[in-house]
Amino acid sequence: MLELLPPPPADPLWVLTDAFGADARSERLDLVLGVYRDETGRTPVMAAVREAEIRLAERSASKEYRGLSGNTAFNRAVLAMVLGTGPGGPADRAAAVQTVAGSGALRLLADLIHRTRPGATVWISEPAYVNHRPILEAAGLTVRGFGWRDAEGGFDTEGVLRELARAGRDDVVLLQGCCHNPTGVDPLPQDWQALAESAVRGGWIPFVDLAYHGLGDGLEADLLPTRMLAERVPEMLIAVSCSKNFGLYSDRVGGAIVLGASAGAARHAETALQNAARTQYSMPPEHGAAVVTTILEDDGLRASWRAELELMRGRITTHRAVLAAVLSDLGRAGEARTLARQKGMFSMLPLTGEQMLRLRTEFAIYGTAAGRVNIAGIPEHRIPCLARGIAAVTGPSAGSA
Ligand SMILES: Cc1ncc(COP(=O)(O)O)c(C=O)c1O
Repeated sequence: MLELLPPPPADPLWVLTDAFGADARSERLDLVLGVYRDETGRTPVMAAVREAEIRLAERSASKEYRGLSGNTAFNRAVLAMVLGTGPGGPADRAAAVQTVAGSGALRLLADLIHRTRPGATVWISEPAYVNHRPILEAAGLTVRGFGWRDAEGGFDTEGVLRELARAGRDDVVLLQGCCHNPTGVDPLPQDWQALAESAVRGGWIPFVDLAYHGLGDGLEADLLPTRMLAERVPEMLIAVSCSKNFGLYSDRVGGAIVLGASAGAARHAETALQNAARTQYSMPPEHGAAVVTTILEDDGLRASWRAELELMRGRITTHRAVLAAVLSDLGRAGEARTLARQKGMFSMLPLTGEQMLRLRTEFAIYGTAAGRVNIAGIPEHRIPCLARGIAAVTGPSAGSA
């Protein structure tokens, strides 16, 4: 049987990561994977996470099965964080189940779409997070791309609205709630309003992927577009990842939220999600969800987590601004402007695949072939080196002799 397996396609990100591992140059810089790194290149365990783990170990709670929705206190806490707690707000007609991180939430929600609307098209941005299309297609859904950026590298308001006007009433539109991966280009508040109007007018269902909340403009600000959409549309799906903003990448913590026209409709959808999980992995792992719940339910731990998240966000924002400033000093005002407008962990360098290859071979700087670099992966003292590399591989700037 196994000899009949076709050769598996290589995952381009992990191929680059392996190449980085084999690179013997001491100055090599890994900007490929989407993980936060501190100035020493480490991905730290957040102080609140460490403290929550100590408390959990001391409490030594039972490891009995948790139930089909996973940790229900976690589900309540995530729902409150994402949709707020105000009476009569959208959380009143929403339900959440714990998932195997953001990827698991995307997959469970994709299964829900396929079960209820097998003929639906799911629209995703071009470019999209590298795993969006594979996850949706693996669930049997038809996927269609729509352009995201305009010629200047900003959000293409007119183009996006024009394309989404063609989405049918059975269709679903996958939007990243903040810090768009891979481009770093987010809609402005007025663009989000226009997207909500498009959804209301066209009847398409927003499917929001939240993986970087807290790392763009701040936790509350990053959640505003999701909350605004939830106020305006009858139905919505939300995939939440706790990988980046809690630094719990390998613990695989996340949640799938369904917003229905009524509380009853949301509860019904929750059962459908439980059934989908039951036939895949039965129940999600407890540890990471218990850590997040311990943090969110304790005022002190919550404050510590928020403060450290804010430090991470500040570092990313500063690094991007410094990179833009150094590029500007090198006579690359255009590239600097494009970068300065981007948000979150990633920036999309305006470089070709060939130029990204030169960055790798000549400067030992690893980003993806499409130009994505992890801004959180650059130690501050290496930013001028990255800027010089960008300037070198893009050739003489316009205006220089
Ligand atoms: C946009 C986006 N969504 C979802 C995920 C999935 O994250 P995880 O499954 O690690 O929580 C990622 C991870 O990089 C991402 O960038």
